[in-house]
Amino acid sequence: MKKSKKSKKSNTWKIKQHRDQFFKKSKTLGYRSRAAFKLIELNNKFKFIKHDTNLLDIGSYPGGWAQVSRKIISSGKILCVDQEKIEKIKNVSFLQCNFLKTEAKSQILEFFDGNLDVIISDMAANTTGNKSLDCIRTNQLCADVIEFSSINLKPKGVLVSKLFMGEDFLEVKELAKSRFKNVHFFKPEASRNESKETYLHCAILKPL
Ligand SMILES: C[S@@+](CC[C@H](N)C(=O)[O-])C[C@H]1O[C@@H](n2cnc3c(N)ncnc32)[C@H](O)[C@@H]1O
Repeated sequence: MKKSKKSKKSNTWKIKQHRDQFFKKSKTLGYRSRAAFKLIELNNKFKFIKHDTNLLDIGSYPGGWAQVSRKIISSGKILCVDQEKIEKIKNVSFLQCNFLKTEAKSQILEFFDGNLDVIISDMAANTTGNKSLDCIRTNQLCADVIEFSSINLKPKGVLVSKLFMGEDFLEVKELAKSRFKNVHFFKPEASRNESKETYLHCAILKPL
């Protein structure tokens, strides 16, 4: 009993240290969120953001991913979408909306006019306290982004999206595999170990 209390304490300490490390680093480097480091790791691994990429960032508030993308993209367009209002970032466009709405999707498509290279989505459903339900709701957002991407990305386009290792994980994985030739998963170090969060990287569309 004593031993398990001790190991629980040391686990909590490790988790706090891990969180603080990325939190402090984001403050020092001027990033709006720790999430910025997840995108840096993802892009180091898969190299999908280039200087001329036209990029859609879904679930972008407070803007860490947009800051990272802006540093790399010099001649492409960036559109950020979130239900929350985002403080301006130079040369980045914002759309405050619910991505699931048809009207939002039409506005996004009008913005890119058929020229969409990369979609990154860090959307997460509001937490309810029920972890299993939260996983399902976030994975439904991911499934919606997969469908949208498969219709609207350029043929060699890339999608990177958050999803959770929950009960419907395999369903979402199969959906991704039915739409893209290459499907990989990657959990960045900046993602908390105790979280079921992981990221999906999909490249090259299968013909419809
Ligand atoms: C983890 S945060 C994103 C952090 C962000 N990537 C960054 O780098 O700062 C998840 C975001 O998803 C947004 N979100 C969730 N559902 C959404 C929806 N249906 N439409 C638009 N945004 C949504 C939330 O408002 C929240 O700001």
